[in-house]
Order: sequence, then structure tokens, then C-alpha cells
Amino acid sequence: MVNDLAFEAAQTIRTRRPDFLPRAAIILGSGLGSLADRMEDASSIGFGDLAGFPVSTVQGHAGELVLGKLSGVPVACLKGRAHYYEGYGAGVMTSAVRTLKLLGCELLLATCAAGSLRVEVEAGSLVAITDHINLLPGTPLIGPNDDRFGPRFFSMANAYDQALRDILKATAAAKQISLHEGVYLACPGPNFETAAEIRMMRTLGADLVGMSMVPEVISARHCGLRVVGVAVVTNLAEGLTTVALTHEQTLENAAMATTDLVALIHAFVQRIAQSATIPT
Ligand code: HPA
Repeated sequence: MVNDLAFEAAQTIRTRRPDFLPRAAIILGSGLGSLADRMEDASSIGFGDLAGFPVSTVQGHAGELVLGKLSGVPVACLKGRAHYYEGYGAGVMTSAVRTLKLLGCELLLATCAAGSLRVEVEAGSLVAITDHINLLPGTPLIGPNDDRFGPRFFSMANAYDQALRDILKATAAAKQISLHEGVYLACPGPNFETAAEIRMMRTLGADLVGMSMVPEVISARHCGLRVVGVAVVTNLAEGLTTVALTHEQTLENAAMATTDLVALIHAFVQRIAQSATIPT
């Protein structure tokens, strides 16, 4: 994808908040938007006013960029995202991610709701994502490469940054917040998976299943943003539970884990900001 939309959106944001220099970007997944309500000195811009940003069609995914401070640290927070299943293609978040990079963000903390493939990791659990498996029928960077953001071919080694994850784990331990680790597998949705598909995914090595995350992470790694991924388990995956899977349940259970997630993100951002450069 080669166009100037990310530059245009970055200019719009700079015009509205000329002195605002975010250090970190945060994407809030389904039902996790309340973190943005706790930001200090916050102002928001609807995705519709930002070139290249998607206008999400899903309930629970209000699309706005919130600029403000978390524990005194300037962050740019995407409240809502768009998904492959909405029909825009896997590159739907690429321009928004590049805008965050252009604003000066050094890292992307991406959150999402997910189903758990491990019965011991129950609804309401937080999971640090260690790696992913892309089973979407596409990837975000198909088409001409935009060399201004990154190279044509690039590595996905350490895509979910080990050093940052170590800090996240230490932060969780200090706050006495339980944090699991696992591999996230992306499915296209919008249907939840069948029980047979979940059995296949377990064989493939997945711990979590969801319908987002992967396109943003690939786009972020391409343009050099370091990534931390945190999933909120909203349900046990199909076949591991007799509870029927619904989007309402996703939103309700995401809200259940919000207190811990908000505390974790606050403390993590604070720790990161204490160092002049983010530890490698
Ligand atoms: N499957 C896919 N996506 C999800 C799930 C699930 O079980 N739960 C939350 N997002």
C-alpha cells in the first residue's frame, strides 16, 4: 500500500494537538475502551476525521483516537479498531498504525478479546501474547511496498518483544495481577470457530483464538514499532465449554477483566517511561 494518508492523518493530529508527542500507542479491543476514559488531559478525534483510519461497524468498537496521558506519560490510544471480517481487507489498520509511528510512538501496546484454548486459562484471565499464527486469508502488506515505512521483506522474529514482555510480566507480578502467556491464532470470523477447528488449532500450537491483532502487529513490525500484545480471555473456545458463544458475552467478560488490565497498563507505561530509551 503506497499513499500519503498516514502523513495526512499525522498532520491533522499535530494541528489539533501541536505539542503532543506520544511515546506509546495503545489499541483497545472489544469491550476494553474504558481505559481511554481514565486518561488525563485527553482529547479525542473520531476515526472519520482521520485520513486512512477505518470506520468500524461493530458494536463495542467506537472508533476514536484519544490523545492524553496515562500516569503522566503521553499516549495515543485507538479506542476501537476495524477487523478483517468487516470486509475492508487485512490492510484495514495499516495506515492508522503508520500514523502512530509518524507521531513518534516507540511502541504499540495492542489489546484484544480472545477465546482460550486452555481450560485452565478461564474467562477474565489476562494473557501476554508471545507469538502468533496467521490463519486470516490475507496479510496487510500485500501490494506495492511503501519504502518510507519499511522494507519489502522483513522479519517477524521477536514480533512480540521479549524485553518489553519481561517488563510487563515484572509489572504484573509487582501488582499481583495474574498474567499468562500464549500464542494467538487469528481467524477471519465473524463466526466463532467450530469445535473441530479448535481441536486443529490446539494441534497447531495455539493458546488463544481471536479475530484481530495480527494485521496490526504485522504492520507495526514493518514500520519498526515494538509490540506488546495482551489478550483478555472472554470465553473458553468452542468445544471446551457448553456455554454458547456470543458477542454480548465477549463484551461482558472483557469488562470483567478491565480493572486488572487498566491497572497493568498504567503501571507498565509508567515503568517504560522511566527510562529515556525503551529497554532492548
Ligand atoms: N473466537 C474468536 N474470536 C474471539 C473469541 C473466540 O472464541 N472470543 C473472543 N474473540
